[in-house]
Amino acid sequence: MRLFYLLKEWENSFTWRIGGIMDRILVLDFGGQYDQLIARRVREQQVYAEIIPYDRISPQQIREASYSGIIFTGGPNSVYAPGSPHYDPAILDLGIPVLGICYGDQLLSYMAGGEVSGAGDAGEYGKVILHASEHILFQDVPEESVCWMSHRDSVSRVPKGFRTIAETQNCPSAAMADDIRKLYGVQFHPEVTHTEYGRQILRNFLFRICSCRGDWKVEDYAQTMISGCRDQLKGKRVLLALSGGVDSSVTAMLLKEAIGDDLVCVFVDHGLLRKNEAESVVRTFRDELGLNLICADARERFLKRLSGVNDPERKRRIIGEEFIRVFEEEAEKLGHIDVLAQGTIYPDVIESGKGDSAVIKSHHNVGGLPESMTFDQIVEPLRDLFKDEVRSLGILLGIPKELVFRQPFPGPGLAVRILGEITGEKLRILKDADAIFREEVLSGEPQQMPDQYFAVLTDSRSVGVMGDSRTYGYTVALRAVSTDDFMTAQWTRIPYEVLEKASSRITNEISGVSRVVYDISSKPPATVEWE
Ligand code: XMP
Repeated sequence: MRLFYLLKEWENSFTWRIGGIMDRILVLDFGGQYDQLIARRVREQQVYAEIIPYDRISPQQIREASYSGIIFTGGPNSVYAPGSPHYDPAILDLGIPVLGICYGDQLLSYMAGGEVSGAGDAGEYGKVILHASEHILFQDVPEESVCWMSHRDSVSRVPKGFRTIAETQNCPSAAMADDIRKLYGVQFHPEVTHTEYGRQILRNFLFRICSCRGDWKVEDYAQTMISGCRDQLKGKRVLLALSGGVDSSVTAMLLKEAIGDDLVCVFVDHGLLRKNEAESVVRTFRDELGLNLICADARERFLKRLSGVNDPERKRRIIGEEFIRVFEEEAEKLGHIDVLAQGTIYPDVIESGKGDSAVIKSHHNVGGLPESMTFDQIVEPLRDLFKDEVRSLGILLGIPKELVFRQPFPGPGLAVRILGEITGEKLRILKDADAIFREEVLSGEPQQMPDQYFAVLTDSRSVGVMGDSRTYGYTVALRAVSTDDFMTAQWTRIPYEVLEKASSRITNEISGVSRVVYDISSKPPATVEWE
């Protein structure tokens, strides 16, 4: 039997998902690369924003949802390109203020009867001086400021009812306004930090034009969510796979607040976690935070299944399959479960609704679930939150800071950091090396703290000398990266002293290692993980 996805029901149950929040901004998604950033910037102003693809919501639904304002995002298309995304013109008649950004601005103009022209190959990219007129959108913004542009086409004639309210050297209509209908467009990107007064411009739109109050708080969200879950899940048994990562941990604590011991968490110890991590997860969540937690010790069976496997993608697949099997067995022991809880967060929801992107590595391999498992419902209490909001919620729910702010850790764990076959011996070496490196980075207090840092066990051995003897041990690679979004990453300039101490400790304290190297590759062309 298949899972019953009741997500549709969830999508319609705004009343308790975000109950009590009156001000909401719709970010109408035309495929721009900064869509999530726009929503984040709005939420930073304590106004709730949600991203919906332009063709997934009708004017009628927009009216019923009583949005305070709509933002048309950027996008990679030209308004003239066949099949380029267009909005339903009835949206402009709803009486809801609209702000078009970049492609959204061009589309607003084009569909309202204005003109958009290509700038040949020139376009405008990067920082540009913006000359702004006196206008409500530019209140508290100087006449001259830096804005950030990234476009080829631009508005060459504003539609009837609009007037130009800002310009740059190459863009005669860098912003336009129809104050009667409250329709606005900006060619530049107010959401990126390079636009000096971008935040102020968005604030003007939200508070001065859309009359938002700015009362969205993650605390209110938590309260609404907890009482909503309490009502909807009353008397039901809920199962959650707890990995110890932020999303599943916060989901667990939120549901515990709502339904206490009716929530059963299963933690699968596959033996590929960092040193002492499994013990720490169990201690924190079961002993300190009082979760109803089952720890499935599956270390041996994972090692057995991985024995002799070298191919990274095969390792990932095996881990994913085995994880499901263990989880399924544990669930079976528990008897009937009504609801499955998942730690899905907003970027997962948005990304899964978007088109296919190139698969470089198969991620989320600990995500699929067996079709034979039956649940009546799926509950995803964090599906409206961004990562930093999930973290704030985690702190609010009493999860220790170290866990809430911990660096990302891949689902397949250390398996993708051990090149070649995984053995107990290699796991021992890597766990110890990784623990030493993390300890040294933390105690070295580098000026720039990496966003992710770990050790990798390469499959190559080299000659060394210890005392009077020749050794032939593994090469450990240390990796530290700085990044905003993990899509691209720079290798971090870790102080030499920290590297020196880590290297010396690793070779001295761990038998079987004769060499330590530091990875100075950025992403691209390398990836963060080695496999
Ligand atoms: P890459 O190696 O793709 O990593 O540059 C980018 C970020 O994703 C994490 N990562 C994974 N996370 N399952 C996960 O849950 C995976 O298979 C996986 N592979 C990489 C990686 O740690 C980094 O933060």
